[in-house]
Amino acid sequence: MGATDGPTVIKLGLEDAIAGLALSTEAHWNQTKEDWRVFLHDGVVFGIRDGARLVATAALLPYSGDNAWISMVLVTGTHRRRGLATRLVDACLATARQNGLTSWLDATPDGATVYGPLGFTPTLQLRRLKLVSPPRETSGSPAVASLDALRARDLRATGFDRTALLTAFAQRSGSRIVAADGSIALVRDGRTARHIGPLFADNAVEALALVHAIAQSETRPLLIDAVASQATFLEGLTASGWTIERPFQRMRCGPDTTAGEDMPFAVAGPEFG
Ligand SMILES: CC(C)(COP(=O)(O)OP(=O)(O)OC[C@H]1O[C@@H](n2cnc3c(N)ncnc32)[C@H](O)[C@@H]1OP(=O)(O)O)[C@@H](O)C(=O)NCCC(=O)NCCS
Repeated sequence: MGATDGPTVIKLGLEDAIAGLALSTEAHWNQTKEDWRVFLHDGVVFGIRDGARLVATAALLPYSGDNAWISMVLVTGTHRRRGLATRLVDACLATARQNGLTSWLDATPDGATVYGPLGFTPTLQLRRLKLVSPPRETSGSPAVASLDALRARDLRATGFDRTALLTAFAQRSGSRIVAADGSIALVRDGRTARHIGPLFADNAVEALALVHAIAQSETRPLLIDAVASQATFLEGLTASGWTIERPFQRMRCGPDTTAGEDMPFAVAGPEFG
């Protein structure tokens, strides 16, 4: 299927959140309806329908400094290998180019095969880890920290001003921002597991201590998307019961635009960077 034939690409609206959630749930992803509302409200989500049914999506979320995050690239099982993902990511890239934005994404292995031919090149690697049963200990919760502190650390590390996104996360019921020594992290609800990230720390010892403190104060399964080059952090997680679920490859299309000073220990999630 060429880029000029095939089914029509449409822009989705807030009313499509449930249909989008059905696609991410089919892929066993952790997003909630609230996550879909972020993309549909603050970004642009392209979709393809087969009749009335939404069968494929891709989202572009603008960030500060001429950057945008592409995510939620999903095609229902019955409609794969027909060029739908390519078509939708192309629509995202066209929008990004019109607005002078560099596009970033965190690719699953299947996704990376789609993005390479579209001009994306690899940058850093991530590892998604899961802790199925957090240890039930009563050593208390880590200290609550402020949204301002998290925003400042996030800006320093990523180079993106993500005030709107972090504020939306923090305002959700079930979210908490916690800190200890030189570390800080956000914990939020997901569909099947609670998610830790972003997480910033001065060193791996501090980062691990905060993750352990969070785990001891949680009861549901936990996910974290760790930066693979933080080797000591990854080793510490796997040594304490976390298992690596899958890799993600960060990719960029367009000139390098970020001026992040610190490497995070864990990102906000592959769908948000
Ligand atoms: C990854 C995904 C979005 C691809 O959607 P798609 O519509 O099937 O992709 P396309 O048809 O545009 O594929 C374009 C090319 O990418 C490559 N490709 C896509 N899926 C592939 C796979 N599973 N294995 C190997 N190559 C693949 C092929 O080269 C393909 O061209 P071809 O079919 O002519 O050989 C889809 O499999 C999916 O929804 N997977 C689950 C969710 C996911 O991982 N999303 C990506 C997040 S980053």
